[in-house]
Amino acid sequence: MIRVKKIAHAAYETPDLDRMVEYYTEILGLTLTGREPGTAYLASTIDHHSVVLHQGAHARCVRIGFQIGIDDDLDAFEKQTAAHGIRTERASDPAPGIADMVAFADPKGTVMEVLKPGGFASQPFASKGIVPHKLGHVAFFVRDVKKATDFYCNVLGFRVSDWMGDFFSFLRCGPDHHTINLMQADEDRHFHTAFELRDWAHLQTACDFLSLNGYKLLWGPGRHGIGHNLFAYHRAPDGLITETFAELDRMNEDLGYFEPRPWHRDRPQRPKVWAKDHTASNYWGILPSEEMRR
Ligand SMILES: [Fe+2]
Repeated sequence: MIRVKKIAHAAYETPDLDRMVEYYTEILGLTLTGREPGTAYLASTIDHHSVVLHQGAHARCVRIGFQIGIDDDLDAFEKQTAAHGIRTERASDPAPGIADMVAFADPKGTVMEVLKPGGFASQPFASKGIVPHKLGHVAFFVRDVKKATDFYCNVLGFRVSDWMGDFFSFLRCGPDHHTINLMQADEDRHFHTAFELRDWAHLQTACDFLSLNGYKLLWGPGRHGIGHNLFAYHRAPDGLITETFAELDRMNEDLGYFEPRPWHRDRPQRPKVWAKDHTASNYWGILPSEEMRR
């Protein structure tokens, strides 16, 4: 099968577009690469955009873009998707930097935009704000975690990296431990969007910078068991949660285990089902606040 290889972008609706553009540029340190009436494009480095913001009634994630490989055929991917009984739409030049795209909805209604990588935009890293390496992953609460997990694996070619119990799946589409994570809940909605930082020192600088600008942490810093990433969560001005992270596990697909790290307790560390306890959510012991579920 043709598998998606990388998360390309995530698109959100937000009630106060200017406020969120200010947050993404001044606080997170992404570069504003395009602005149209009601829409803003923000990027980290090599892509034209990794975040799209649309003026909307309430804050929510509406679309996620994924790239297929340079040798993969988008026509064949569309056929493969249609064979699952999924209705697809094809679009040429749907947005800056995207030449050709297949779009369809996932089980919770988020639009998947699968695209062929075009040219590189290659803007420099921003010189103000947190300045993440890249968009890392997007997490969702879902009504049917098994169905949604199967969809990402069977239609888009994701692989399961880990489960927490039978209610929280972590899925990869490249070497990074997770690009999509899905938690069973009584509603379908965005949980958090995560950006990768360089290292622990960068995470500390980010936490201080957030604090200086009036952003309080919801949870962290800590080290997740699942994925083993250092993490710190805060809430963006429109209410959606942002995670900053570093040191996420990376899979060696040919060997079937994650690159060995001193903090791993399994040697080798392979995909598995974790018990729901503090070792899965935070090795350092502090469990998430209730605020994380709002
Ligand atoms: Fe996360």
